[in-house]
Order: sequence, then C-alpha cells, then structure tokens
Amino acid sequence: MNQNIVTRKPLGAQVNIPPRRMDFDFSKAPRNGYANDEYMTTFWAAFSALFPKGESFFVESVRHYRNQVSGDILKAQIAGFIGQEAMHSKEHSTFNNFFAKQGYPMAQLDKDVGVLLLFLQKKLPPRLQLAITVCLEHYTAIIAEYCLKADHMHKMADPEILKIWLWHALEENEHKTVAFDVYEQIGGNYVERAAMMIPTTLTLAFMFIWFHSRLLAHDKQLFNFRKNWPGIKHFWGKGSMFQNIVPQLLDFFKPNFHPSQHDTDALLNEWREKLFGELGILKDQIK
Ligand SMILES: [Fe+2]
Ligand SMILES: [Fe+2]
Repeated sequence: MNQNIVTRKPLGAQVNIPPRRMDFDFSKAPRNGYANDEYMTTFWAAFSALFPKGESFFVESVRHYRNQVSGDILKAQIAGFIGQEAMHSKEHSTFNNFFAKQGYPMAQLDKDVGVLLLFLQKKLPPRLQLAITVCLEHYTAIIAEYCLKADHMHKMADPEILKIWLWHALEENEHKTVAFDVYEQIGGNYVERAAMMIPTTLTLAFMFIWFHSRLLAHDKQLFNFRKNWPGIKHFWGKGSMFQNIVPQLLDFFKPNFHPSQHDTDALLNEWREKLFGELGILKDQIK
C-alpha cells in the first residue's frame, strides 16, 4: 500500500484551510443565549438565518470555476473553502433549528433567503455571482475578525452558543482570500468588484434588518425601544461591532485591496490553539 496516500492530509488542510467535521449541541443552551436579552439574542439568530442557503450560494459560485483555475495551491484552497462552508451550512441549520424549536419562524427565513439566491442564480452570470460572494466573504471575514478579538462579547454569550461562532469566525479568516483569488484569476476586475459591493450591502442590510424585525415581532418586542435600546447601542452605537468594522469595510474599495492585507495570521494561530489545541474548548465538538 502506498504510504503517501494513507498519511496524506485532505487538500484543504495542506493549505491551512482544513474542513473540520463538527457536531454542536444546543439542547442545553438557554433561550436568550446572548446577554440574556431578546434583542441581542435574535440579532445573532437573524444573522445565522442567512447562513445555510447563503453559504451554499458561496460554494456554488466558487465551485463553478473550480476546473477553470490554475495553480495547485488555489485548487487546494478551493477544496478547503468548499469543505468549510458546507460544514458551516450544516451546523448553522442545527443552530437555527434550536431557535425554531422556540417558535421562531426560522424555516420561513431560510426559505426567503433561498428565493432571493435562486433568483440571483437564474438572472446573473456566474462571474457576478462570484463577485457577490467576494463581497459577502469580505463581510464575514471582517465581522469574524472582530468577533475573535471581542473578549467582552465572549463573556456575554452562553458558552455552548459561543462555540459555533468562534469556530465559524476562525474558519472565515482561514479561507478569506479564496473567493477573491478565484475572482481575480477568472478575469474579475476592480470596477465590477467595487460596484457590486453597493447593491450587495444594501440587500444584505435589508435582509438582515427584515429578519431581525420578524424575530423580534415574534417575541412582541419589535417596538419595545426602551427594552431594545441597550442592544441597539451594543451592535450599532458608539464603539460597537458595526462602528469598528467600517474602516475595514471601506478598504474593499481600494483598487489594490486584497483580503490578506488584513493580517490575521497571529490571531488565527492563537485561536487554533484555544479551540483545537490539547485543552481546546472545541475538542468535544470536533468529530
Ligand atoms: Fe462560512
Ligand atoms: Fe466564508
């Protein structure tokens, strides 16, 4: 038997984008698992509702060009990207089911994302679909980088719920250059990439606010501004996550931008150890 084949790591793992098979369990998680607050908890639920179908769209848009790109490294990175995003879809479905069991309309939100993305897949050429993925991967990378660094947010989250977000945040940064590099190699250009960021951002903002509103409406808290105010300040106000990511968001509009310019190597090494090291907090979740 060929020893090389037996010991060979998966392609993605060879380029530091290892697909990790995870199995999260939220059965013991509390209903309001972030700051014990409905506005703040449903903020993350609305975000998560975008992922199962959204990540499948990312995978399809990159997979379309899989056989057209050159370079063994990029091909291995694509394999890692597809493996990681597929697992994100699966585990966020589990997370969304946790909210669905509490009566939230997660299935309807998932269906609505699917309708929008199917429309885009039918109407847009593959290169523009990939450009949208590049834009959204920029969002996931910079939000994830912020989340890995934001100790104060980790303390506000239920430990079981925190795990899925830390894992996802780590992997978003591990593969953040892949869609961008594929897009560049298949002839994508600066003007198109920067231009696509505008409708992508508007659509993302609309979908997210619409989803969050529907989850809050389910709790009959949509217009309870007094109760929601701490959450609004936390996510959108001074010193918030939103405010912190704006400078990195705007970097995308520089003609020579590349995701690797946001250097997260040290941050990733630190979190790989914290999550998957000998005493890693995800050692029970990795299969
Ligand atoms: Fe992802
Ligand atoms: Fe991603």
